[in-house]
Amino acid sequence: MTADRKTKKTILTLNKNKQENISSVMVTAYDYPQSRIADKSGIDCILVGDSLGMTTLGHKTTIPVTMDDMIRSCEAVSRGADDAFLIGDMPYMSYQPSNQVAIENAGRFIKSGMDMVKIEGAMTERIKAICDSGILVMSHLGLTPHTRAKLGGYKVQGKTAEQAEIVLKQAIKLQKAGCSALLLEAMPKEPAGIISKELDIPVFGIGAGDEVDGQLVIFHDLMGLFWEFKSKFVKRYCEAGQIMTDALKDYIKEVKDGKFPSEENFYEINDQELEKLLGDKKWKYELDRDYYNNPNHSSTPITQGKTVIKR
Ligand code: KIV
Repeated sequence: MTADRKTKKTILTLNKNKQENISSVMVTAYDYPQSRIADKSGIDCILVGDSLGMTTLGHKTTIPVTMDDMIRSCEAVSRGADDAFLIGDMPYMSYQPSNQVAIENAGRFIKSGMDMVKIEGAMTERIKAICDSGILVMSHLGLTPHTRAKLGGYKVQGKTAEQAEIVLKQAIKLQKAGCSALLLEAMPKEPAGIISKELDIPVFGIGAGDEVDGQLVIFHDLMGLFWEFKSKFVKRYCEAGQIMTDALKDYIKEVKDGKFPSEENFYEINDQELEKLLGDKKWKYELDRDYYNNPNHSSTPITQGKTVIKR
């Protein structure tokens, strides 16, 4: 383990942003290249979300995601990020059974390189236990996919005054229990704004309007790499899926047309070795004379059997 860089973002960075009214920006990432891209872009936080079940593993929901799935992903993301603040999402049934299980699993996230864990729902007792063990926790309220059946499906939350007040009370309780950050998913902007103003800790939103302290978007939604559905709150910033498909079509065409690989992609074999290999032997292989006759080909002439190959 190496020491953190001076530029590494911490919970203090997020607190300071809130105090100074600067929006913090978070994106999900699930592997090394996504993490490097996100980190190099200057993002404040990376969430290794259990949305990886859908974006990366092709499941229909996040429910099948295991601790091992998450930890493998967190390790890769941690290797790719130098500066971003890293949050690991505790998957279904990794924190519900008992405080002991919750603390042990939260500890695995920290060992995998995460700075904080995220937990869905107002599980105050669990969250307090994890916070008391010295681990930073982000609570996730509003639309909580782990309890979607209880919520009657993936529905926007806090649309009535009564519902919104329940979320606000839960949020205040969780802050008292030791939570260091909150994420609100799929809520109207006004109740989300009220919650952000009432709490001292940074409040992020995903589909919770622009009056929260920070924003989260799923990497694949933002990049155009998820096709199953598009939520109202998603904004696509590029069509990476289309760019990749076009690149693959070019690759297929170039291979079929004999344009790739070409000279600049070839490794050289030393002339003497090639001569030795060809010798008088009758291989089915035929030396590509066009290639050796190409004036751009840099090696000196060799003989193939009795034939001098001029290049
Ligand atoms: O797993 C995830 O990416 C999340 C967000 C959808 C909030 O929990």
